[in-house]
Amino acid sequence: MANIIIVGTQWGDEGKGKIVDCLTEKSNVVARFQGGHNAGHTVVIGGDKFILHLIPSGILHKDKMCIIGNGVVVNPEALMSEIMALELRGVRVTKDNLRVSKNAHVIMDYHEDLDGWKEHEMGSKKIGTTGRGIGPCYTDKVARSGIRMHDLDWPEQFKEKHLANIADLIKRYPNNPDIQNLVKTAEATYVKYISLGKQLKDYIDDTDITINEAIKSGKSVLFEGAQGTLLDVDHGTYPYVTSSNATAGGAMTGLGIGPKCIDEVLGVAKAYTTRVGEGPFPSELTGHEGELLREKGAEYGATTGRPRRCGWLDFVVLRHAVRVNGLTGLVITKLDILDGMDKIKVCVGYKYIDQFLKDFPKELPILEGCTPVYEELDGWTGHTTAGVRSYDKLPQKAKDYMQVIGETLGIPIAIVSTGQDRDDIIYS
Ligand code: IMP
Repeated sequence: MANIIIVGTQWGDEGKGKIVDCLTEKSNVVARFQGGHNAGHTVVIGGDKFILHLIPSGILHKDKMCIIGNGVVVNPEALMSEIMALELRGVRVTKDNLRVSKNAHVIMDYHEDLDGWKEHEMGSKKIGTTGRGIGPCYTDKVARSGIRMHDLDWPEQFKEKHLANIADLIKRYPNNPDIQNLVKTAEATYVKYISLGKQLKDYIDDTDITINEAIKSGKSVLFEGAQGTLLDVDHGTYPYVTSSNATAGGAMTGLGIGPKCIDEVLGVAKAYTTRVGEGPFPSELTGHEGELLREKGAEYGATTGRPRRCGWLDFVVLRHAVRVNGLTGLVITKLDILDGMDKIKVCVGYKYIDQFLKDFPKELPILEGCTPVYEELDGWTGHTTAGVRSYDKLPQKAKDYMQVIGETLGIPIAIVSTGQDRDDIIYS
């Protein structure tokens, strides 16, 4: 199979985990390139539910190599728990099916403390992060003071960096009791992380070499994006974003590969839109319709359990995603959640004062002042798409909905997902 990047086209939670799982069958390697255990990828196999946060969902298949690239931020404790939870359910995780980049940055306990502290300090302007320490860890990476996975194998070097970071934090956060306490806990933290490093040692690898050699030898790679285009630190609704590049470009830097090895970029879009956390969401439904989507779609965060905000499909968002990712195809998920709806709306543009906008505005004040312009389509009441596994068997109105999406965005719909199970899927 080709080398394919899978990205989210909305605000995350589009159902990428299931799509990666389905495409893994035909791939040899599955690689994560950004984010951390803020992600929650749900895969259901024969009624058994797996929620993966860090390890690519390819781990659930036999004989696949899973890679956690240098662009990912790794909480070693969370990674160990995930490995152990998989092992307990009979999934073997060894260096033959999991490699973690030496250069991936380590999420320290104080990153998590800082995440919570900053959110608290921001009050009503908070981002609504997952509280996993993602932003503070990427901040250290860019500030060139971060700790990388291979540092855990160099105790003296690790200790020096760790103590320097603590000293710096204590100066910067005089009023934060957790941070001021770090001196007292420094030794215990050092011992804990060195021990985690030892437990993970076998998995630590030059993943840039592993992945490039795999590609050179003709193996096919699935690049698994986390979060979504509108949460990308450059192309999303900044500052209400995550701290990494969740768009296709992130796969290059986050793994150390060149653009020429990519054959396809598939964007995953829910048949409607959801967002978790704060920030603008023009097509959000705040009333009864939004609640209906939330309950029908079980829209609660896989990582934090927070209720997701729900709204109609937004072509302004999707057009932006097609562009900044160079999408070659679209995957529509959760089509079945729209079953039974009399009318379905799609947002075709935004009204801003007296202007009609078709392109996603970069300026937050403009975005916040936009109202959605909708077109209404007929639903497919009396018919169901749930569990349908061939395009021909979809109700005509559902086919019409797919056609409108494909034609509006000018890209083919490659896959449609019609239920949670691995087999509830239609390939075009
Ligand atoms: P952070 O990544 O924890 O810093 O959170 C920043 C923003 O990204 C918040 O709005 C989170 O809710 C959102 N976010 C992070 N990871 C995910 C995800 O996997 N799905 C959906 N939203 C996410």
